[in-house]
Amino acid sequence: MKTYVAVFLTLSCVLLLYLNCCDGKTFDVKLLEEPSGLWSHNEEDKPLVMQINPANFSGPPHFRSLIGKCFNKSDNMYQYKFCPFFNVTQHELSLRWNPYNGILGVWQDWEIANNTFTAMLLKEGDKCGSISRTSRVVFECAPEHQLKNVSEPRTCEYLFTFQTPFVCHPNAMLVYPTMEDHLRDAWDELEGQYVREEITKKGYNKELTKIFQRAGFIQTGTKPLSKKSSDMLSSNNSNTGNNQFTSLEQCTAVSPRK
Ligand SMILES: *[C@@H]1O[C@H](CO)[C@@H](O)[C@H](O)[C@H]1NC(C)=O
Ligand SMILES: *[C@@H]1O[C@H](CO)[C@@H](O)[C@H](O)[C@H]1NC(C)=O
Ligand SMILES: *[C@@H]1O[C@H](CO)[C@@H](O)[C@H](O)[C@H]1NC(C)=O
Ligand SMILES: *[C@@H]1O[C@H](CO)[C@@H](O)[C@H](O)[C@H]1NC(C)=O
Ligand SMILES: *[C@@H]1O[C@H](CO)[C@@H](O)[C@H](O)[C@H]1NC(C)=O
Ligand SMILES: *[C@@H]1O[C@H](CO)[C@@H](O)[C@H](O)[C@H]1NC(C)=O
Repeated sequence: MKTYVAVFLTLSCVLLLYLNCCDGKTFDVKLLEEPSGLWSHNEEDKPLVMQINPANFSGPPHFRSLIGKCFNKSDNMYQYKFCPFFNVTQHELSLRWNPYNGILGVWQDWEIANNTFTAMLLKEGDKCGSISRTSRVVFECAPEHQLKNVSEPRTCEYLFTFQTPFVCHPNAMLVYPTMEDHLRDAWDELEGQYVREEITKKGYNKELTKIFQRAGFIQTGTKPLSKKSSDMLSSNNSNTGNNQFTSLEQCTAVSPRK
């Protein structure tokens, strides 16, 4: 099939060059410039298939109401569709013979920093050379849910801003209050070990990751998305003193679980 497509494309290009050679028009190379990769275009009518299953819902309880909803945004070339806790897809708005439709990520992990859910990570999207497309969705407080802007900071790594009233309350995205008692206890104990200098920062981060995995916020065996994710846990934790909450206990007191 690929050989066939390649032959077809080569012929089309030759034809285009031929047609353009003599009247001075510029040759439209857009098709070949695409970083997304020519070869990953879906064949016509082929339905999009997720490579992995979306993870279960996790995170702030009020986000549960976003399950089953989708939010789209169009720029002049693509329509993007974000379905929280499921997937992000991209649909090329073009009349060319084989517009790109693809999956830019499947819901997997929360990005967590400083006891706060900071982004949703959607991974294992359609292949992009040797890697898979991934998406990171960050939040912005606004009166309405809206998929705001899209960028591609690195090839095939997409960054979306999702505006939502759900993040407006200062405590809305805190991690600790959403956890079950036994996991909070585990975190408290870990915190104690760190404060008493029984474990290093690195050891602390490693154990905290495990707690987050048990809570379902992070899937086991998933790779970090990019450099950003490596500071996932290393930023100021809840007992650094400049926080709203100076201890996890206080945090619990202020934001009781529903
Ligand atoms: C993406 O998720 C939405 C919402 O659940 C679903 O309707 C859609 O089929 C999914 N897309 C793909 C390509 O699986
Ligand atoms: C997702 O939830 C279902 C039902 O609660 C459960 O059976 C399943 O094990 C969960 N999957 C993961 C990966 O946690
Ligand atoms: C979202 O998709 C719907 C249906 O496909 C369309 O009517 C609407 O204009 C789209 N909105 C944006 C912002 O692209
Ligand atoms: C996305 O849009 C918001 C407001 O509309 C803006 O504050 C933010 O800087 C934009 N982000 C990017 C990456 O363009
Ligand atoms: C918080 O974290 C940032 C970056 O990790 C660091 O530069 C800063 O000094 C930290 N602040 C405190 C009070 O620990
Ligand atoms: C950490 O979170 C607290 C409250 O959640 C906030 O006040 C503080 O500015 C945050 N620190 C950093 C470095 O993001």
